Amino acid sequence: MNKFSFLVLFGFFNIANFVLAQNPLFIPDTLAEDTFHLNLQAGTSSFFPGINTSTLGVNGNLLGPTLIMNQGQEVQMMVKNHLPDTTTIHWHGMHVSSANDGGPHTYILSNATWSPRFTVLDKAGTYWYHPHLHKKTNEHVSKGIAGLIIVRDNEEANINLPRDYGVDDFPIIIQTKSLDANHEIITQSVMDTLLLVNGTVNPFLNVPAQVIRLRLLNGSSERVYQLGFSSNIQFYQIASDGGLLSQALPMTRLRLAPGERAEILLDLSNAQNQTHYLRSFSSELQQGVYGANQVGMGMANIAGYNSNPLNGADFDILQLNVGVPTQSPVTQIPSTLASVVSWDENAVNVLRNLTFSPAGMGPTGMVNGPFQINGAFFEMNTINQTVNLNDIEIWTLFNQSMVAHPFHIHDVQFYLLDRNGVTVAANEQGRKDVVLVHPMETVRFITKFEDFADSVTPYMYHCHMLTHEDEGMMGQFVVIDQTTSIESPLDKKGINVYPNPVNQDYFFIESVNGDLIRKLEIYDLQGRLILRQHPNQSSVKIFVDGHVSSGAYFLKIFTNYDLFTRKVFY
Ligand code: C2O
Ligand code: CU
Repeated sequence: MNKFSFLVLFGFFNIANFVLAQNPLFIPDTLAEDTFHLNLQAGTSSFFPGINTSTLGVNGNLLGPTLIMNQGQEVQMMVKNHLPDTTTIHWHGMHVSSANDGGPHTYILSNATWSPRFTVLDKAGTYWYHPHLHKKTNEHVSKGIAGLIIVRDNEEANINLPRDYGVDDFPIIIQTKSLDANHEIITQSVMDTLLLVNGTVNPFLNVPAQVIRLRLLNGSSERVYQLGFSSNIQFYQIASDGGLLSQALPMTRLRLAPGERAEILLDLSNAQNQTHYLRSFSSELQQGVYGANQVGMGMANIAGYNSNPLNGADFDILQLNVGVPTQSPVTQIPSTLASVVSWDENAVNVLRNLTFSPAGMGPTGMVNGPFQINGAFFEMNTINQTVNLNDIEIWTLFNQSMVAHPFHIHDVQFYLLDRNGVTVAANEQGRKDVVLVHPMETVRFITKFEDFADSVTPYMYHCHMLTHEDEGMMGQFVVIDQTTSIESPLDKKGINVYPNPVNQDYFFIESVNGDLIRKLEIYDLQGRLILRQHPNQSSVKIFVDGHVSSGAYFLKIFTNYDLFTRKVFY
């Protein structure tokens, strides 16, 4: 162990208050406009005095602003990539079309701007955004790109809840990172000993003596937290990934896996002048969960895992100093919250099974991976599932490996039915988009695929342990509507395809405003790639040779700024 990690280790073992938390918790700025300007940029952050670490951020050096949106609002995102690298930005948990979703296909080249426009359809809740480039998600997120999205709606507005951002309603993004000997962020390491809240090391937060709301996000690459407070004070979970629960649930522990969010209320009305700590009781985590004292269920461990002082230990995350209440404090925990209605199991159209398994067997592979879903790694050009628009489906997740995987699906929120046949706990009965599946566990959820059909651009499902995701523990699905064309009303009309139907042996693809077409892909109805070109021209003539069978084909046209999908008939 080098000197540096020893210092870090000392910093974490402050449970007995050897080291006082000395940095005020950074509260990201908010943006609340119809047009959101997000500039992805490189910079440096100083996690320790006098030491600079290269980081990435949005409109700053690290993390990004909190985006505030209202249900029903039409938002224009302007994501400008100032990084020297291609990336993408995904609106995690939000129900948007696949072309607007920011998955690995919707890449933003260096210096390009991606400008999706969509209507906010989600329930009030805490969502987030982060990069999603295949094989680079972990790097881009670990280096710092991530931010919260707060959606508001009328149902939530009518409940007496703390919602004054930074005053009684706080963003809490919990992450660990690994640094190398030069203090640079690395991803291939089990020594993720740098614990940050909103990018702050050893943070404290001054809070008023009243009911406060914490919007918790586990933005870590791998680590699961078992959250609670010092003195085991009770708190109330009011929301899961996709919004409010039906009622406030009193609890003293909340497990939060990578990608998951939870909103909690803490009643500090009688706690003025006290100090409390948000803490992870990781000694209580079940074996096989990354962060427990043992990952891998009695099998061989991940090399070096037990040298990490956070694994299996209880450690403080955030110090709360309780001061005077505000002018109009919330003093009661509301009992009823929102309506939460699952889908009817009798109306299910399709059952789907996903099995998680290691690619190689043996004790090391069972723990280290790489892991596959249904025996396959992610392939950019393979559509793994085809879903019919408006179908209700039950997905069964079988974890046939020795580590727990936080499974995430895009497009939809789901309702958990059971874990190994047993109904899930009350705090898991709300809308979810991530579920932690324990070793050898079977989890079922029900969901409905509404609103967005696009047979060309897929949505993702994957493990939200970013190492696993990047190694290929991901699949993709398209939602299709056989009754209509693929063109969504939100699609911008900047590309002409003619003649269509193609009644000669060539056709043209032309960008109306002269933007260069950077990439062009043609797929058949089964989603097979027929042609890929990088024309770098604003008008392209495509010749169709005699071997092409007649029928419908799908075009994906990438300019520097947009992705267009078109259907062409030949
Ligand atoms: Cu939070 Cu597919 O991602
Ligand atoms: Cu995983």
